[in-house]
Amino acid sequence: MHTRRIGDVEVSAIGLGGMPMSIEGRPEEARSLATIHAALDAGVTLIDTADAYHLKAGEVGHNETLIAKALASHERGADVLVATKGGHLRPGDGSWTLDGSPRHIKEACEASLRRLGVEAIGLYQFHRPDPKVPYAESVGAVRDLLDEGKIRMAGVSNADPDQIRLAGEILGGRLVSVQNQFSPAFRSSEPELRLCDELGIAFLPWSPLGGISRASELGSAYAPFARIAEAHGVSPQQVCLAWMLAKSPVVVPIPGSSRPETIRDSVAAADLKLTSEEIAELDAV
Ligand SMILES: NC(=O)c1ccc[n+]([C@@H]2O[C@H](COP(=O)([O-])OP(=O)(O)OC[C@H]3O[C@@H](n4cnc5c(N)ncnc54)[C@H](OP(=O)(O)O)[C@@H]3O)[C@@H](O)[C@H]2O)c1
Repeated sequence: MHTRRIGDVEVSAIGLGGMPMSIEGRPEEARSLATIHAALDAGVTLIDTADAYHLKAGEVGHNETLIAKALASHERGADVLVATKGGHLRPGDGSWTLDGSPRHIKEACEASLRRLGVEAIGLYQFHRPDPKVPYAESVGAVRDLLDEGKIRMAGVSNADPDQIRLAGEILGGRLVSVQNQFSPAFRSSEPELRLCDELGIAFLPWSPLGGISRASELGSAYAPFARIAEAHGVSPQQVCLAWMLAKSPVVVPIPGSSRPETIRDSVAAADLKLTSEEIAELDAV
């Protein structure tokens, strides 16, 4: 497995996104555990999650609990960097709400620590700016968590270039990652990707295949991805992930999966080499 870096940690070039195993349409637990184990067997050492990846009101942290269970029952579970997040809430009616107050971030982190069963969270990401709370205050809470040793590394998500720079200042140069939406359908995070490349911090594209409901249609929606996939004898999803990896060494895609076969297929993208002509063609889609 090819590797990349998040802060001082070497991780697999393709991570696993945990969200499809815990929100609407999630499978039964046994299939999710098999999916996480398949990821580890394939060499994945980065799993992305969040306390808000759950469905009903009373099950905050469903995905973190699932991941902790899967890691505890696999021989390489201890080698995985778990990247979780705080700042989003799901009241149980299908909506996603926000609480970026320092008090909530700190309480959420304590609860994530308990569910993950660790003394310090590997990577803690502020999930999304809350318009009701100054950004500096939310990120200040993450800085306090770093200073207290409750988290090993800090990241932000859904941040624009100004917020990324501000977070870097508030964290005293200790911002290691930015997680933003980026896919063939959604390219408006290209400036943030370029900024991460310039700053030498990891960029984690979320919904890299277009999101849970659209990922399987990637090939039919974007003909060049399908054509290049056919030429290499691989899936359009692999081409998409290889295209992202080629953008910059700081890119670490986190495709979601709820089936062993999809994460196995995605992981193979790390070995797929596209030509510069192919990359230019995909850039122009
Ligand atoms: N920071 C944020 O605000 C934010 C927001 C959204 C997501 N995220 C993170 O980003 C991760 C990825 O995003 P996402 O899950 O929304 O969307 P995605 O990765 O674009 O798509 C996920 C879907 O792709 C399918 N898939 C994966 N690999 C495939 C392959 N090789 N071939 C065919 N289908 C494949 C999976 O199907 P199966 O389910 O059938 O396996 C899965 O349901 C999430 O899991 C989460 O960790 C973060």
